[in-house]
Amino acid sequence: MSKLVIVTHPSLKDSLINRIWVAELANHSEALEIHSLYEKYPDLNFDVAAEQELLSKYDEIVFQFPLHWFNVPFALKKYIDEVLAYGWAFGPGGDKMKGKKIRFAVSTGGTKETYESKITLDDLLKPMAVSFHYCGCELLPSHVFYGASSQPEEDAVVSNAKEYASNILS
Ligand SMILES: Cc1cc2nc3c(=O)[nH]c(=O)nc-3n(C[C@H](O)[C@H](O)[C@H](O)COP(=O)(O)O)c2cc1C
Repeated sequence: MSKLVIVTHPSLKDSLINRIWVAELANHSEALEIHSLYEKYPDLNFDVAAEQELLSKYDEIVFQFPLHWFNVPFALKKYIDEVLAYGWAFGPGGDKMKGKKIRFAVSTGGTKETYESKITLDDLLKPMAVSFHYCGCELLPSHVFYGASSQPEEDAVVSNAKEYASNILS
């Protein structure tokens, strides 16, 4: 397995986009590991050492999440704050994320047009992107499903999920 996908969704069973994304990725378990933060840590008390060890094993890491209040879900922010620690991901001796490839896979309620006018999704993800750059990571293009609040057809989501899998496996 060469790639790790860290999924942050508070209720995957009630989800449409992230659930279908995970189901599609699960067909490629020989090539990637899916790590669902809320499933592993329902109380969000992360085992920082275990998470750092997991991240260390992979050169390419995807962070998959729904956009919440124009930001990453708070659980992912907590994860970044705690796991990308001083002396591990940055600061003296903090080179453990250096050289890793990072990608975001994001679902939004708002339509593509919403994010093409004043503030784009790239603008919103900038603090995350800068944080990973700061840790010496390389950012790969994001994969996005826009318009989850517009009751998308399941076929459209499945087709987007296949594109997602093909992007990260290529
Ligand atoms: C607490 C909360 C905040 C949200 N904030 C935004 C937002 O700021 N912008 C947006 O486009 N969608 C927002 N949404 C919609 C979600 O992004 C959307 O429901 C999700 O991406 C759909 O994915 P899912 O089917 O996997 O749950 C929000 C949803 C929730 C529950």
